[in-house]
Amino acid sequence: MSEILLEGGAHRFHCERHDTVLGAGLRAGLGLPYECTVGACGTCKFELLEGTVESLWEDAPGLSARDRAKGRKLACQSRPTSDCRIKIRLDEACRPLDPPRKQPAVFVSSANITHDIREFRFRTASRAAFLPGQFALLHLDGVAGARAYSMANLANDEGEWHFQVRRVAQGVGTSVLFDTLEPGACVTLDGPYGMAYLRKEPVRDVVCVAGGSGLAPMLSIARGMADLDMLATHRLHFFYGARTPRDVCGEAQLRVLAGYGDRIVFHPAVSSVEEAAREAWIGYTGFVHHHVEETLGAGFTGYEFYMAGPPPMIHAMQEMLHVRHAVPASQVHFDRFF
Ligand code: FES
Repeated sequence: MSEILLEGGAHRFHCERHDTVLGAGLRAGLGLPYECTVGACGTCKFELLEGTVESLWEDAPGLSARDRAKGRKLACQSRPTSDCRIKIRLDEACRPLDPPRKQPAVFVSSANITHDIREFRFRTASRAAFLPGQFALLHLDGVAGARAYSMANLANDEGEWHFQVRRVAQGVGTSVLFDTLEPGACVTLDGPYGMAYLRKEPVRDVVCVAGGSGLAPMLSIARGMADLDMLATHRLHFFYGARTPRDVCGEAQLRVLAGYGDRIVFHPAVSSVEEAAREAWIGYTGFVHHHVEETLGAGFTGYEFYMAGPPPMIHAMQEMLHVRHAVPASQVHFDRFF
């Protein structure tokens, strides 16, 4: 166990031998800044003033050449090998409401959502404590590093964690989940993490935009709105961007929520013109961010936006919302994984 002291001396926390600076700091309830937790975004950079750390991923894209030249490190990819003193900017917005826990989780069952997205259900001995829209890290046997997957369900006392995962060609993590893992197998689950969780205040109509396996956190947001009775007074526009008609999903899960078809409206979009024509798709054809813009039309600042999906979709949505419609960043929520 190492002790981490923050510059200025106002905060210190302990870090277990196999934990990261980020994980240990959040477990101690501190607001260490982060987004992806997997080395990609660079939000968790810090300066090592004293002591030593080992890096879990030397070439992590979250650090630029300039960062490396200046000796900066990533808190999510650094394991202390001695007591350390570090310089990092705390962010109150990142202080966890449910501090992440590392615990064993048993694989219970799985079911197909589409031809390449499957829901995997795990159970922990203690309560599944998280906010709608958050994610957890799964440590799988035989897979180097953790994989970040969002929960599709809501917090519960039964310890149920439901993840919807898209099979990635040659993906080591997904091939273990899809092909190897048997019910009863145990993995290590570390969570919750994530800042793109459902805000209860201020209450606005909500727009969820999902692409690929970004469906899971958006479903959790929709279920959270239903659970909190937010749909009694506000609307949810739920957009799903797929490449082909057979990739479209989400409607079946939304249909069972009270208010579907009235307060909840599902808007699927298919981006491949050829596939749409071949399968006689009668819905919207084009990119999902265009579908959002054309459907809402005006008054974009009157909505709270949540989104999860491939980086090009996130970039296109950001440009559309911030540049063309002046939506403040405080009303747009997503976790950056790339
Ligand atoms: Fe550490 Fe993204 S690089 S949180």
